[in-house]
Amino acid sequence: MKKGKINITHLLSPHWKALGIAFVAVIGESGTDLLEPWPLKIIFDYVLSSKQMPAWMASLVHSTLGDDKLAVLSFAALVVISIAIVGAISSYTEDYLTTSVGQWVMHDLRRTVYHHIQRLSLAYHDKKRTGDLISRVTSDIDAIQSLISNVLLGMLVQILTLLGMIGVMFYLNWRFTLIALSVAPALFLIVYSFTRRIKQASRAVRKKEGEVISVLQEVLSSIRVVQAFTREDYEQRRFEQESIESVGIALRARNLKAMLPPIVEIVVALGTCLVIWYGTRLVISGQLSAGALLVFFLYLGKMYKPMRQLSKMTDTVSKAVVGFERIREVLETDMLVRNLPGARKAPRFKGEIEFDHVTFGYEEGRTVLQDLNLKIEPGQLAALVGPTGAGKTTVISLIPRFYDPASGHVKIDGEDVRSFKIKSLRQQISFVLQESLLFRAPVWQNIAYGRPEATRDEIVRAARLANAHEFIEKLSEGYDTMVGERGVTLSGGQRQRIAIARAIIRNAPILILDEPSSGLDAASEELVFDALARLMEGKTSIVIAHRLATIRRADVIFVINEGRVVESGTHHELLARGGLYAELYEIQFRKEEMDDLESVSFSARNHN
Ligand code: GTP
Ligand code: MG
Repeated sequence: MKKGKINITHLLSPHWKALGIAFVAVIGESGTDLLEPWPLKIIFDYVLSSKQMPAWMASLVHSTLGDDKLAVLSFAALVVISIAIVGAISSYTEDYLTTSVGQWVMHDLRRTVYHHIQRLSLAYHDKKRTGDLISRVTSDIDAIQSLISNVLLGMLVQILTLLGMIGVMFYLNWRFTLIALSVAPALFLIVYSFTRRIKQASRAVRKKEGEVISVLQEVLSSIRVVQAFTREDYEQRRFEQESIESVGIALRARNLKAMLPPIVEIVVALGTCLVIWYGTRLVISGQLSAGALLVFFLYLGKMYKPMRQLSKMTDTVSKAVVGFERIREVLETDMLVRNLPGARKAPRFKGEIEFDHVTFGYEEGRTVLQDLNLKIEPGQLAALVGPTGAGKTTVISLIPRFYDPASGHVKIDGEDVRSFKIKSLRQQISFVLQESLLFRAPVWQNIAYGRPEATRDEIVRAARLANAHEFIEKLSEGYDTMVGERGVTLSGGQRQRIAIARAIIRNAPILILDEPSSGLDAASEELVFDALARLMEGKTSIVIAHRLATIRRADVIFVINEGRVVESGTHHELLARGGLYAELYEIQFRKEEMDDLESVSFSARNHN
């Protein structure tokens, strides 16, 4: 299955063999359902009373079992067993095959959707709620799986059975059939409307359950805040409120469910009354055999089941249709950022980065970067500074094509980044971001995330360079220590150094750092800076920094304000100019410089 279009035939076509066999099983199922009452008819008509058997049955019984009534009885018994065996095999086969097709289709869909979602641009992910996407990959796909497993052929069984029963009854006695079926429309309407209301009610139950879980999840994931502000009682009340509401809704649903079977039984009893009344008279007057009457009885009792199943299935169908639409919507969302036709694999970059009249906005009608120009030579360390919200993070997001500019070009080594295949472009860029995410995996794997094929030695070497080796060694299981979902078992500085090791091991010619040291104390900052300095050696680096220590070492500083580069130059040049940088320096860095002799000596050491 390729990206974009999906439809049900597309999904099912690889499984046509299994579906073909399942279809045969369906016919077996319906057939045996229809035949079930017939052995009783044989006993009533040909054993208990002395009606003449049809010629084919008589010759079959006589040639195999003998020609007395006991032979007919044995025949009926054998038929019961045979029907049961064929029915069992058919229903097992149908169930197994449709479930397996359903599961494989689900796997296929999940794979496709996940593949697509992972590659959808950040612009899409920024807008979409994670929960919504998760529910598309799980419940919506589940709904489709349930359609295939339970309904697709199940519906066919029920319809065939219903039609078969009506056909057989007509064959036996059409007038009596009309009388016997007179309750059927009422029955169907009752079952249908109830099933719909039951479904609505259970949907409400599920929604409420979801809300209960959300409250729980919200509180558990921010339990620190809850306890810090001692809001436990408030949260308890909120939770209980949701829980009470869920009880009410569940009881309403249960009430509807409990009402249906008794009502159905009464309607069926009415039908049975009619059948007994007219049927017995027909039997007495010899217009109908006792066995045929029995068949009518049993069919009437059985009819309710397929009706109920069918009306249940309408709901599964509608859910699957909705699920299908929601999945389609995701799959048909174009990957805004994708390989252009003719994109080629990027060569190893020298590392020249240029923004050429770049304009960009996250939303229509609101530009964040305005005709922005900057150029960084290979091997330079460039710093981006500017007030918060100026667009610094946005600038660096355009280099790996997290977003594409609305106009203008982002170039590496003189070529538009869009002319490269995305993977080959991003492989040559390392990131250390403000808050480094670690995966729930051993430390070594977290480091190797930047280059999965890295050897253990390379990992240790990277950790040493990142000043991380020492503390990793001290962890309970060293490099094999699991770190938590959000790396909670490590401190900010430790996490950052693992992230730096991750970037070092990637050994990419371009390095992007977004405030890599914010939130660190002076001692860990020193370690992180030290590691960063090694990481930057011989690479083109772009650092967004609020700290003077980093900025002063930069070969070139770009001052960004309101989406433009307003000044550029070295620290001293910019100070001498007396513009925005000088102003920022006054309010932000001056004090830092006086306080923090550490960082000055650090920057001097690294400025060779
Ligand atoms: P600091 O990190 O606070 O120093 O700011 P920054 O210079 O990195 O600013 P950034 O590039 O993150 O944001 C520039 C502008 O774009 C701001 O007005 C933000 O509100 C806006 N912006 C940033 N990210 C998004 C986004 O994902 N969606 C939308 N719609 N706007 C965004
Ligand atoms: Mg930022």
